[in-house]
Amino acid sequence: MASNEKLEKYEHYLNNVLREDLRLIVEERERLYEDIAAHSQLRQTITCILEAPGCAEEGLRTQVDLGSNFYVQAHVPDTSRIFINIGLGFHLELTLQEALEFLDKKLAILNTRLADSSKKSAKIKGQIKFFYEAIKELQGQQGVIAYCATMVELVKSVNVNLARVWLVSSLLSIILWLVPLLLGKYVDITFPYIHREDIMQELVGFVGPTESQNVDWCPIVSPLLQDTVHLMSSNVEVLPEEEIVKKSDVQEGGVSKPKSCKSRYQVVVVVPYRNRSTHLHQFLTYMHPFLTRQQLHYRIVVVEQSGEAAFNRAKLFNIGFTETLKLDQVDCFIFHDVDLLPRHDYNIYACTHNPRHMYSAVDIFRYHLPYRGLAGGAVALQRSHILAMDGFSNRFFGWGGEDDDLNARIHRLGLVMVRFDPAVASYVMLTHKSETPAQDRFTTLWENSRKVEKDGLSTLEYKLIEKKEKPLYTLLLVSC
Ligand code: BGC
Repeated sequence: MASNEKLEKYEHYLNNVLREDLRLIVEERERLYEDIAAHSQLRQTITCILEAPGCAEEGLRTQVDLGSNFYVQAHVPDTSRIFINIGLGFHLELTLQEALEFLDKKLAILNTRLADSSKKSAKIKGQIKFFYEAIKELQGQQGVIAYCATMVELVKSVNVNLARVWLVSSLLSIILWLVPLLLGKYVDITFPYIHREDIMQELVGFVGPTESQNVDWCPIVSPLLQDTVHLMSSNVEVLPEEEIVKKSDVQEGGVSKPKSCKSRYQVVVVVPYRNRSTHLHQFLTYMHPFLTRQQLHYRIVVVEQSGEAAFNRAKLFNIGFTETLKLDQVDCFIFHDVDLLPRHDYNIYACTHNPRHMYSAVDIFRYHLPYRGLAGGAVALQRSHILAMDGFSNRFFGWGGEDDDLNARIHRLGLVMVRFDPAVASYVMLTHKSETPAQDRFTTLWENSRKVEKDGLSTLEYKLIEKKEKPLYTLLLVSC
């Protein structure tokens, strides 16, 4: 049915049927109110006669209205009986007591009818409201249709070829969509970031002059950095363990530091892990030379979750943090997914003054950020900040939400998450089957935002099954 026709039908039904029904019901209710008032008054009079002293012996003195405001005195000598109108023009002579019983029954019936008609009137009012809203909506739609029609007329009047406009705008959208993928970068102007030239001064580490304290500090900017994009896709080579060890001079436990100078930055890279051996191998092959070129003193810690429980990424971070502090007194932690690889050497893996979300651009999101508050994939946090926010939540089992919770914790501390220039903080994600998001992640997130109980490092419980310094990383095998 065309919306015009529908609108007419609705208006007709509203005005001629529903409004008429409501009028009748309102009239019926007024009649019922009058009846109830008259019967109640009569009942009151009878009760008064029964209770008035001497009324039975002396009779009743009253006034009778003759009309036009003329009253005459009247005397009813026998008040023991009364004529009651029982409907249809019939009057019945009853004793006062019988009359009271009759009136009680009659009032009960009248009240039931009144309740029924109140219900009917509420129902009709509801229907009227419904049709009224429907009409409003249809009128709105017609407004839009009329607006579109006017626009089409307007476009026609200026002689524009609509098909061509459509074709050109579709082509433009496709090109704009493809540009970031072809260039391998997306310079997003919607979020602030630390510009490439300011990165070094944002880092926390020893950044004083090289001559001080007779220590042979490494240069502020490592001469080994290559100013090129290393990865265009997730086809990452894997090298044999011994070759990686040799190439990057990796010590037991996945520890490495520059040979020729003292590093200005000491960091631990914590990687939560389960059943991703190929990714882990690719990660280690790529990351050891990458971190070495940055002249960092680092350790890679892999926290592997055993058992059948759903993966708990954030809890593994808490465990990695706690256990690593038993090995080294490090001030900077990088919590990193195993399937994420940085494409640019100037993305320095050291901590910044503020907590840092490591990627500003990633291939799976067309080198774009899906939302500003994103804290997934990789973050760099100072030890003091981690302790102040009681680490990560232990309550997120399964995929998603734990990084959003981290973002909330950072905000609660009054800090902001920073990011590096998208041209530098650009990543590739190794291909994998996408995980099914945990159903309860938003509930947990919401509960955490309102909870006052502790949840984090202070409530962390786990079983350490194995702690081993392997050639390319420190393994923490745990159950949680
Ligand atoms: C999840 C995050 C995830 C993000 C991007 C969100 O819905 O809660 O954990 O990092 O999506 O994939």
